[in-house]
Parts: sequence; structure tokens; C-alpha cells
Amino acid sequence: MLQGDIGLELGGRIATALRTALDVSITPEEALIRPSNRAGVDYQCNVAMGLAKKLGRKPREVAEAAVSNLDAGDLVAETEIAGPGFINIVLRDDFLGSALTALLSDPRAGVPVVDEPRRFALDYSSPNVAKEMHVGHLRSSIIGEALRRLLEFIGHEVVPHNHIGDWGTPFGMLIEHLIDEGWVADGAQAHAIGDLNGFYQQARVKFDGDEDFADRARKRVVLLQGGDEQTLALWQGLVDESARHFEEVYELLGVSLRREDLYGESFYNPMLADTVAELEAKGLTEISDGAVCVFPPGFTNREGERLPLIVRKSDGGYGYPATDLATARYWAGERGATDLLYVVGTPQAQHFAMVFAVAAQAGWLTEKHRAEHVAFGSILGSDGKTIRTRAGGSVKLVELLHEAVERAGAVVAERTELDAEARASVARSVGIGAVKYADLSGDREKDYLFSWDKMLAMDGNTAVYLQYANTRSLSVLRKAGQRPSADTAVLPVEPAERELALALLRFPAAVSSAVESLAPHRICGHLYEIATAFSSFWERCPILAPGTPDEVRQSRLALAAATSQVLTLGLSLLGIAAPERL
Ligand code: ARG
Repeated sequence: MLQGDIGLELGGRIATALRTALDVSITPEEALIRPSNRAGVDYQCNVAMGLAKKLGRKPREVAEAAVSNLDAGDLVAETEIAGPGFINIVLRDDFLGSALTALLSDPRAGVPVVDEPRRFALDYSSPNVAKEMHVGHLRSSIIGEALRRLLEFIGHEVVPHNHIGDWGTPFGMLIEHLIDEGWVADGAQAHAIGDLNGFYQQARVKFDGDEDFADRARKRVVLLQGGDEQTLALWQGLVDESARHFEEVYELLGVSLRREDLYGESFYNPMLADTVAELEAKGLTEISDGAVCVFPPGFTNREGERLPLIVRKSDGGYGYPATDLATARYWAGERGATDLLYVVGTPQAQHFAMVFAVAAQAGWLTEKHRAEHVAFGSILGSDGKTIRTRAGGSVKLVELLHEAVERAGAVVAERTELDAEARASVARSVGIGAVKYADLSGDREKDYLFSWDKMLAMDGNTAVYLQYANTRSLSVLRKAGQRPSADTAVLPVEPAERELALALLRFPAAVSSAVESLAPHRICGHLYEIATAFSSFWERCPILAPGTPDEVRQSRLALAAATSQVLTLGLSLLGIAAPERL
């Protein structure tokens, strides 16, 4: 079957025509083929305007040259030159039909695998030990998971890693508090920490109010950094306790991060001295106020003063910047990653920009590498401020997810005939899907308003709307008692059939554009387009109604099957379940 995007295929044909006619060489992308939103037109080619300028000709002349030399009879039914030189393209119904037949037996739905796979080091989720994960980590987990699935699907190698905050001075007080609570190194612990946030706060209160405790905590930090065995065992206990909590969230959320993906701050700790020594040896550092700093070119504050990246503090300790320099050095160097992605909130934009600049100066990142801060905005409550609980506390992720499932259960109960067990599983798919989709369907760099009603709406760009379209297409197949065979002839002729066919066949283009900009919302937008096209098709094109000729029925069943196939695939790339019944 045709692999990849029809638009690019058309672009290639136009490029060939222009080479023959005008002796110019352009790439298929440069042919500027775009889906058209005019009724009766499938694609538009916008190449003539720009090229005419370059060639010193009239746009219409260029368009005419392209059209009259176009060898695309197998795909194209009609072309028309409109306005100054736009080329409107209508595809052949039988081409759409055969492409759809081919799609039915292609589990990739036409999405090609990349020619040159790259190795991505993907940093996502990255919560902090001894603290509950909060909604800020929700976005990183959800966006990171979608990117992971997308990149793997198109054939890249992805090495996920979870950069948990598991090292640093707070661990002194946390460990002392553990000891006070009766924990012993290497022993069965008296009790698990039910409330990690509470635990952290208690330690903090003691640290601030009890001089003796604070003193012990500071000594404990020294022991920890010195590698004292008993201290390390207690620290490990705390990390394990948190990791269990993270796993609970990942499980609920369908995020595939596992224990072995933990590459916390402690992992890089032994590399920090070398990392900084290398910067010093390369002559990149300066001492400023007692701290070792690098001043990467181009970074200044409002007063025009150079901005430092502090790589070793004046007290000799290393901080967040040094650790991230070590991550870049480690993943690009030791692990041979070509692409380093960090899925972290926008407030850390400057940190990453400076880290990447310094890593480039040090030669750890070269032009062969791509390092990118995959930034995202905040989740806001209905008041436009950072989301809070009714009591004003920060929203805990686990509670939020349970609430999502509960609310979805209520939505599902209204319309379903499923039994209780099936309903619980559907509620989970719908509830978790709603939260994830709300997070993925907007431009990730923007903040978004968290609204239960909006994310669980049966109409609109929501997960449940897509899930519902999928179950409808499956239900008609069930009723028909058959799935279309792999060679079913599909003939989309009605406008609603053609729209749906085109939307399905444009899925590969949506995937490549989502990958290119690391923008999962492009997949969401496209799946929504498919679901709305399916909905008009459903209303206008009877399938099982008596009197529907058999070949029409078969063709429409095939369209329904393809809809379910692409929606299910698309949702799975986003990390969202597509239940078979709602
Ligand atoms: N733990 C950090 C936080 O909660 C995020 C770490 C992101 N990754 C990194 N390599 N800096 O803010």
C-alpha cells in the first residue's frame, strides 16, 4: 500500500512534473500540498506562487506547467487551477477505496518506519522522593509517555529515564526523622509511610524548631555523602517507599516507567566531580563569589550582566545545574544517545537552555545531537490559579485519578447496559483517558484549565468522544456479525464517506507532524477529525438498513472497521485505552 502521506506522494508527483516542464528541482515537501477545506476539493497545491517569484514567471503559468505534465492518473481524478495559481486536487474514489482496503490489513495504518532510527534519552515524570507526586508531575508523565510511544512506534530507540529527586541536603532531616519513627537500617520497618507529604512536613517542622534535631540532620547529610552504610540503607528504604508510591500512580495512569528506569539525582552524584573537573580543565569555568561558574555566551540578565551557571557552590556542594550537566554528558557520551529530551515544566526553560549551551561548549553535545527541553505549561483550577484542593492544599495525584474514575463511572452508568464489573473497567478507561486526553489535546506549552465537566463531555474534543466513536463502529460490526475481510472492496463515493476515508488516510501525516514538533495534540486533533467525520458518516450513510445494496454495506462496514482501527491505534499512541463497549 501507499506508505506515508498522500500529500507527500502528490508532492512528489508535482515535483516530477515541474522538473520535466520547467527544469526546476524541488522536494515533495516544497510542493506545499495541503488538505483542502473546500467542499469537493481534497488537496490544494500552493507551490506556484513562491516558485513563480523565483523563476520570474506568472504563478498561473507555473501551475499550468505542473498540471499539464502531471503523471498521477492513478491517484488524481481532477485538477483545477484557482485564483492566482492554486491547484485544487480531487482524488479518485477508487484510489481512496484501494488505499482503504490496504489500510484494513495494515496494523500501522500506513505509518512508515523511519529510515534512520535515532536513540532518544527521554527524561519524563521525574518526581521527588519523600513527596507525593503532584499534578505538575502528571503532565510530565502523560506527555512523556505519549512521546515515548510515538517515537518507538515510528522505529526510534527510546531509553526512558525517571530523574527522581533522591539526593541532597533534605535527606539529612528525612533520615533523622525516619530514625525517630523507629526505622532501622536493613530491618523490617515498623510501618510504611502512608502519607509522604505529611512525613516531609513533620521533618521540616522539627528541623526548623529543634536545634538538636537540625544538628543531627546536618551530621546525617555528611554521613550520607560519605557513604556511611547504615545511613545509605535508611536512605534506600526511603527511596523504595517512594518508588512504590510512584509505581502505584504509573499503574493507575498507564505509564510504562518501571524501577529499572530510575536514574535519580543520586545516580549522577558520583559523576559530578569529574564533570566539573572537565569543565575546569577545558578552561570554561570562572570563580565568582567563591562559586565555580560557567558563563555561557548569550545569557544575560536585564542589566546586561552575564548569567552564571553555578556548577559548584561556594560550600563545595553541587546542585541541580551540575547534575544536569552530568546527565547530558552521560547520555550523549556513555549511552550514545543522539536526542536528549527533557519533559519538564516551562519554569525550567532557562536552566535547560544554559545547561545545553554549556554542554555544547564542553563538547558533550555536538551538531550530531539534539537536546530539547520539552516544556509544558501549568494546570490551572477554574479560578485561573494553580489547581488546589477545596481545603487549599496541593492536589494529590492519586486522589485526582480516583476522582476521575469515580466521575467517569457516573457518566458511564447513565448510558450503559454493561454489568458492574465491565462498568468498573470502562469507568477506569474513560476516567483516566479523560485526564490524560485533557492534558494532551492542547498545545503543551500553554497552561490549561482543569475542568471535570469539560474533560468528561460526551461531545467535543475529549477522550470519551473518541472512545464512543470507536465503540459505535465496533457495535455495527458486531451487529453485522462479521468483520470485513482483508480484500473487501471499498468505494467511498458519498461526500461523508470520502471525508471519512480521507481523514483515515491522513493519519500518517498527523503522526509525522506530531513527532516533528513533539506535539501529541496534533494526534488528538486528527483523531477528533476522524471521529467527527465518522459521526456524519454514521448519520448519513445507512449500513445495516434494509435495502442497502450488499457491496455498499460491505464497503461501509469496512469504513467502520478502519475507523475503529485508526482510533484504537491513535489512542494507544497517546497511552489511552479504547474499550470495546461503553
Ligand atoms: N525533580 C525535578 C522537579 O520535580 C524535575 C527533574 C527533571 N529532570 C531533569 N533532568 N532536571 O522539578
